[in-house]
Amino acid sequence: MMFEMKPEYYTGIDFIDQEHARLFELAQETHDLLNNDILQNKADSLVHLISELINYTRTHFSHEEEYQESIGYERLPEHAAQHRKFEDKLMEFDLDSIENDFESQNETVEELLGFLVNWLINHILKVDMLYVNQ
Ligand SMILES: [Fe+2]
Ligand SMILES: [Fe+2]
Repeated sequence: MMFEMKPEYYTGIDFIDQEHARLFELAQETHDLLNNDILQNKADSLVHLISELINYTRTHFSHEEEYQESIGYERLPEHAAQHRKFEDKLMEFDLDSIENDFESQNETVEELLGFLVNWLINHILKVDMLYVNQ
């Protein structure tokens, strides 16, 4: 497994850790899809994966923001703004324009994976830890 929770990713808040673990799973699924050489057409899997990511991140972000509100976290507005940016970026993966050729599908999966890894892992390790350790 390439993408899984390491000790440094744990916030110690159970429901947050469970949701982060699911996001890592989705990054792993993206990685697996990229490296899948058997599948001739990745369009369906890609649409499914992106939809799941959109839904799951929305759910996670709203839970996290509710939690931050409940502890009176002062930097909630900035944190929520980062979440909105992440959601917007995910929405930019245009499901209707996924082409049927293998190369361009792989490019989309690669772009999705790069985005997830850079953004998600940075966010969890740096930005999420700020409210945990406030
Ligand atoms: Fe988070
Ligand atoms: Fe967050």
